[in-house]
Parts: sequence; structure tokens; C-alpha cells
Amino acid sequence: MIANPSSRLPGLHRLDPAERLERVAEVAGLSDAERGLLAEGAGLDPLLAGQMIENSIGVFGLPLGIAPNFIVNGRELLVPLAIEEPSVVAALGNAARIFRDAGGFRADSDEPVMIGQLQLLDVADLETARTGILRARDEILARADALAGSIVARGGGARDLDLRVIPQSPVGPMLLVHIFIDCRDAMGANLVNSVCEGIAPLLESLSGGRANLRILSNLSDRRRARAYCALPAAELDGGGLDGLAIAKRLTEASALAEVDPWRAATHNKGIMNGIDAVAIAAGNDWRAIEAGAHAWAARDGSYRALSRWWLDENEILHGSLELPLAVGTVGGATRVHPLAAIALKILGVSSARDLAEIMAAVGLAQNFAALRALATEGIQRGHMNLHARQLALAAGAPQEHVGEIAGTLVACGDIRLQRAQELVAAMEERNSR
Ligand code: MEV
Repeated sequence: MIANPSSRLPGLHRLDPAERLERVAEVAGLSDAERGLLAEGAGLDPLLAGQMIENSIGVFGLPLGIAPNFIVNGRELLVPLAIEEPSVVAALGNAARIFRDAGGFRADSDEPVMIGQLQLLDVADLETARTGILRARDEILARADALAGSIVARGGGARDLDLRVIPQSPVGPMLLVHIFIDCRDAMGANLVNSVCEGIAPLLESLSGGRANLRILSNLSDRRRARAYCALPAAELDGGGLDGLAIAKRLTEASALAEVDPWRAATHNKGIMNGIDAVAIAAGNDWRAIEAGAHAWAARDGSYRALSRWWLDENEILHGSLELPLAVGTVGGATRVHPLAAIALKILGVSSARDLAEIMAAVGLAQNFAALRALATEGIQRGHMNLHARQLALAAGAPQEHVGEIAGTLVACGDIRLQRAQELVAAMEERNSR
């Protein structure tokens, strides 16, 4: 690894994939074996895949890109992204470069506390059951710790209980028990579910009721991460507009996502483009992250933006993002999938909180990139160039001619699969002569 490596890797996108891998491997200190796995494009052995899930018949690949230029909490970072959508990696690297000179992104996070839910039904007296369970709080938490195993030795374990009487539901009244469990560097789904199942008999005997659901909540709102960034509006430019005009338009776009769920869904999708891509690369459960993010976005009854952008009286543009981020650096696929371990090494993360903070910064940067493009020239020009490459590939263009076919599609302004197929056919015809 290079001492104090910078994440500023100018011209990375102009290198061919092998050179790019060498450059990143050098900065991230990847071993020959790790380079080999990435170079072969076969990061997951089909036999291992067969042990990860049932009925596996193969391995489904995704491109793994690197967004350079990141600084989060003063640390230089290369961000690995597993994603099929063009533009996301380039947009993220550009956004990170724009914020570099202003110090990059700041991020923080809560303790890694997950919520387990137990639904108690057929309880004769809900209020008596509630006070009985609260009185036995210490015993319940001790039982939970005994079930949580090694996480307690690592500083985690059961923290507290919260009880809610739900007087009415389609199946009658119920008592809901929330148990809060610090999962340290694990995402914690298995841990929380085991604890919930394990303490259910005790709660049944304390309440006189029947435990039905015993499972974590993916609205992990005790485990949130936040990111923040700022830069002088004058430093933005593009599309023939000055920096202040761009910043104003960007805040106008952001304002719509604060009041309108249709726009908020798209705004948040842009945030999740970055967050999910890191989650996939790092072997994390992105469906859980998505579920938590959107439930959080709707927490007060109306769905709204996860982030906010505003201008202050000194013409500084500020952005902030907050969302639940239940992620892990141990357990699950993080250690089983060889590429996930490599992604975590490239990120250089030391804990689940560290990973969550980086992901929040990535989400905010991705959001900035989308809003800036939307507020200036729109996203289609950049997007279509990359889309043209995908069409060229889909039309069967050989690797060495993808750039040429895509360039022709863009130049003639006719970026359609049929046109790409015609160009590939014409090229084959020429070559066969
Ligand atoms: C596309 O994947 C994401 C965007 O639609 C996000 C946004 O509109 O903010 C560009």
C-alpha cells in the first residue's frame, strides 16, 4: 500500500480495466491473490455460491467500479460500487472531487443498536402484562445477553426494552415488546432474531399471552447515520450558469422533494443508487437498508426526502442526509464472499459504524450529483453516452468496437438498440469482405 495514499486518481477512467485495477490495487494494498480474483471476473466460486443459497445454478455478475476522490471525516477513500446502471460511478467520483477542496464530507452515526419485535396476543389484561414485563426488565435483558453469545464479550448485547399496548388491530388488541440490542460490527439480523425467539417463552409466561411474531424491525431508527457537506456556491459551474444560480436551482429541486412524495421517491432513489452499490460490493443486505430508508422517509406519515440542501446568507451551499443504516463488517456475506472482503479492504473500514458513515456520505454525494445535473443540463446527455455503450454491447458489438459504435450512436443522436444492431451488422459486413 502507498503511504498516506490520496484518493485523487486523475485519469482513472481513461485507463483500460487491467491498468485501472493495478492503480487501485496499488493504492489499496491488494495482494496478488486479491488482484487475481478481480482480474478474472470470477470473484465467487460456483461451489461457494451453492453453499450460500439453495438451488444455486451459477453466479450472477455485476460490474465493480471505483469512485475516487472521496474524503470522509478527513480520510481519503476509494469507494467500490457494484452496480449495473451507467453514470452512477462517474457521477459519484465527480461529486466527491467537487467537495474535496472544501474538505469533503463529515459523517457520524449512532451506536449500532437494532430493534427486535415480539408480538404478544391473547393477553387477558394488557396493562398488567405491560407492568409485569417492565418489572422483569433485568431478567429479560440477562436472558437476551445469554442468547446473544460472543457479541456481549465484544461490547454489545441487550440494552433496553420498550412496550406498547395496541388496543385495536384487525386481530384484536396486542402487546408489542421492542428489545434493543447493540450488535457491534454485525448487521445483526440473525442475532436479533435468535434473541427474539429465545426470550419469547419468558415473555409468554410473564404476560400470560401467546408470542406470534419474533423478528427484527428493518426500521432500524436507533442505528442512523448522518452525512454533511458544504461548499461556496461560487465553486459550482456548468451549463452556462454561474455557481450561485446552480446552487439556487439545486435547492429548489431539493425543496420539491421535501414536500412532494412523487419527487421524494426519485430523489431518494438517487441517494440509494450510491448506498446500495456500496452495500452490494461490501456483501451487505441492501433490501434491509432500502426498507429502513423508505420507512424512515415516511416516519411522520408523509413520505419525504432523506436529504436536504440549502443556501446560507454567505452563499454557502449545505447538504445533509440522515437515514437508518444497519450494516455489518462481520457475518453474513461480508466474509464469505471474497469480493466483499476485498471491497471492505479497499474502503479500509474499521467497524460497522465506519461503513455506515461512509455510506451516508456516498448517498449525499450521489444526491448532489443528480441534483446538480438536473438543475443544469439534465441527466440525459451524460447518461446517454453510457447508455449507448450498453446498447452497442447488447447489439453484439465486439469489445474492441464498443466505443466506436457507441460514438456513432451518440454522434447521429439516434441512441436506440435497432440503430446499434444496424451499425454492428454493417461493421460485420465490412469485415467479412
Ligand atoms: C437515476 O437513477 C436517479 C435520479 O433520477 C435521481 C434524481 O432524480 O434525483 C437521477
